[in-house]
Amino acid sequence: MHVTTYSSAARAASAAAALILGRLARQPSLVLGLPTGHTPIPLYRALARAHRAGRADFSRVTTFNLDEFAGLGAGDPGSYHTFMTTHLFSQVNLRPAHTHVLDGRAHDWRREIARYERLIERAGGIDVAVLGIGRNGHLGFNEPGDQLDARTHRVALRPGTRRANAVLFGNRWQDVPTHALSMGIGTILNARCAILLATGAAKARIVARALTGPITTRVPASLLQTHPDVIVVLDREAAAALQDRRV
Ligand code: PGA
Repeated sequence: MHVTTYSSAARAASAAAALILGRLARQPSLVLGLPTGHTPIPLYRALARAHRAGRADFSRVTTFNLDEFAGLGAGDPGSYHTFMTTHLFSQVNLRPAHTHVLDGRAHDWRREIARYERLIERAGGIDVAVLGIGRNGHLGFNEPGDQLDARTHRVALRPGTRRANAVLFGNRWQDVPTHALSMGIGTILNARCAILLATGAAKARIVARALTGPITTRVPASLLQTHPDVIVVLDREAAAALQDRRV
């Protein structure tokens, strides 16, 4: 695990963007796993800037988002699909047919999760999974528990996770859907490389637990310790609790 720390969230986001752009330059048909949330917004801004400056061509890139709320899909204001359209898909030259987000509105969610796994497989797997981390240690919507689902699945969201997403729903956490579809932890760990981006003091404790604590399903991000190629990009605040611990 390679951990890098930057003086600000903006610098951390630029560093994560530079890593992705470096890979993209070497491999134009990159397959990316993508997160939503507050953290990746400056990262997506940096990717959009690079594209506008002629430094990034996404025309052959394929993307798979980590998760989506059950009941929501493209066009719904609170959906992750809409978030991605706003922050990345409409800002770069990704082909719509190459961007994949789980369809939370699918009538048959079992079919939808199987379809998603098939699509990832057909794309040759994920080259770089860009990840955020929840305050409770979740990756995607793989919430802490006694066990984790290996493959893409339907999940009940924890109250804390629903509160963290309230901003997408007019700050009314009760309006945040109770369930979601999420890539499984095994699907994420199958990515050839993972980039974990975490910023802000609220993440300090969980970052230290995930990177240096025991590997446990109670902290899903701790499973990243088992992956051979993980790059962790932090700002100083998120790295604060790591200081006395070995990574
Ligand atoms: P955040 O979400 O970037 O909004 O903190 C990260 C996550 O929950 O995975």
